[in-house]
Amino acid sequence: MNASQDVVIHIEHLTKHYGKVVALNDLNLDVYRGEIFGYLGPNGAGKTTTIRILLDLIRPTAGRATIFGLDVHRDSVRLHQRLGNLPGELALWEHLTGWELVRYLGGLRGGVDERYVGELAERLDLDMTRKVKTYSSGMKRKLGLIQALMHRPDLLILDEPTNGLDPLVQQTFYKLMDEVRDEGRTVFMSSHNLPEVEHICDRVGILRQGHLKAVERIGDLKKVRFRWMTLRTDDHVDPAAFEALEGVSDVTTHNGTVRFKVSGELDPVIKTAARYHVVDMSYEEPSLEEIFLTYYGGEEQQ
Ligand SMILES: Nc1ncnc2c1ncn2[C@@H]1O[C@H](COP(=O)(O)OP(=O)(O)O)[C@@H](O)[C@H]1O
Ligand SMILES: [Mg+2]
Repeated sequence: MNASQDVVIHIEHLTKHYGKVVALNDLNLDVYRGEIFGYLGPNGAGKTTTIRILLDLIRPTAGRATIFGLDVHRDSVRLHQRLGNLPGELALWEHLTGWELVRYLGGLRGGVDERYVGELAERLDLDMTRKVKTYSSGMKRKLGLIQALMHRPDLLILDEPTNGLDPLVQQTFYKLMDEVRDEGRTVFMSSHNLPEVEHICDRVGILRQGHLKAVERIGDLKKVRFRWMTLRTDDHVDPAAFEALEGVSDVTTHNGTVRFKVSGELDPVIKTAARYHVVDMSYEEPSLEEIFLTYYGGEEQQ
């Protein structure tokens, strides 16, 4: 995995200032061939800034990045042949139809595999005969995905690709990404959605306020995953019964309501809950903030 030929994206001391705003601070990161790398962070963390530097749309203040060993700035023309990219905000020629746009963009790369495009359009359920200006934002996003995928690039760089896609289409997208990975190709995708990253990525980089806080395999991140469970009962709840369970913590009670964190097996929790007359129950995902806090417990929040 660590052989240098398998490094697809190599980022070294990458820093970007916008005036006084430090959008990216000394980022170091390697992304390997054949992985789906999730670049996770809340709004304003610096995800788009990183992607724009990789695509040579902006220049860093300091540091450098290479893709396939080629400098993202100096070799950008050569690199773009091997890249598929979905920008956060798509600028499309609105007066063209989906097909016309795809043919135009494909022409710039020396041709389009229309069969493959047709297949992608069908799977994503996009009518390519309509003019882009009549598309909804979700439809534009689909067209963006098609143009990113259509030349079967070795590397996909996708900025929050599932934003605005309905859940069914998201599933199709996940499947497409699996196929890309199965072919030994690489995906670098940003997201602010942890469950999504967990679902499809092999590794995740956690970015916050321009700092890369951690790079983890998803399996390791899951170890710190927890949910909040709240049970409302008709009875008096003994918190000790829940506190005694492995993987249960932060138990609080209020009248008949008990709330706690679950990070272990659910089964013993349910069996303990079944001793009471449960009126209502909620089982919530923690927010990204909470995960950060769990992960870096005690670290001061910036
Ligand atoms: N063109 C710009 N001029 C000034 N500040 C910018 C510009 N682009 C981004 N920023 C700032 O840089 C930080 C990172 O932004 P961005 O990379 O877009 O974050 P993300 O994509 O993770 O939401 C934010 O504080 C944002 O306001
Ligand atoms: Mg962004």
